[in-house]
Amino acid sequence: MTQSKLSGKKIVITAGPTYEKIDPVRFIGNYSSGKMGFALANVCAEQGAEVTLITGPVSQKTTHPNIKRIDVESAEAMYQAALTAFTDADAAILSAAVADFRPASPMDTKIKRESGQELTLHLLPNPDIAAALGCIKKEKQILVGFALETDDEAHHAQDKLKRKNLDFIVLNSLRDKGAGFSHDTNKITIIHKSGESVAYPLKSKQEVAADIVNQLALLLQ
Ligand code: CTP
Repeated sequence: MTQSKLSGKKIVITAGPTYEKIDPVRFIGNYSSGKMGFALANVCAEQGAEVTLITGPVSQKTTHPNIKRIDVESAEAMYQAALTAFTDADAAILSAAVADFRPASPMDTKIKRESGQELTLHLLPNPDIAAALGCIKKEKQILVGFALETDDEAHHAQDKLKRKNLDFIVLNSLRDKGAGFSHDTNKITIIHKSGESVAYPLKSKQEVAADIVNQLALLLQ
């Protein structure tokens, strides 16, 4: 791929987990490290794209001048930032592990433990960022999603691809050694909306990012 393959393209990337506030000291979150999303942002930026990286709380760093980083905490904040950034974008890659639910009434003061008492949290569903962008997507905009599955992987991934109106989906299975949140490696299958799929061997997240961006660049030509 030449250096400037994505030159002039605007790409939105969501990355990392979201934190859903329970009270001032507690949240609902997940183990996403953001590594995959940050690797994607770097590859896109190196290929000349103007990247908006919307990330949940992670310890990853960004240094590339083509990356505009927006730090958010909750799914709602990520959703608002993604909707705004997608308006004039050529593509969005949704790699964030968005929390599906948030506490209905986050407390302003720390919840106190009352000895022996149970606590029930009432949870509300969060917006589906991928599906929302899939609804407003214009013909030329490309949408890429991820599916991390534990069983019946291809079936679940294809269902998400259709449900969210994606152009392709990156499937990784937790059954594959070295794939998933906390590893520096990943093993993916890319499934296109045409039904065509490409399976890749286990690679570093940098190399996986390059494979994904190659597929995206083909669609953006
Ligand atoms: N996604 C999103 N917003 C959400 C949930 C998911 O943008 N609220 C995106 C993810 O970033 C990913 C894709 O949708 O690209 C699939 O995420 P996943 O969590 O696997 O999908 P869900 O619809 O939550 O499906 P389920 O939890 O039933 O597996």
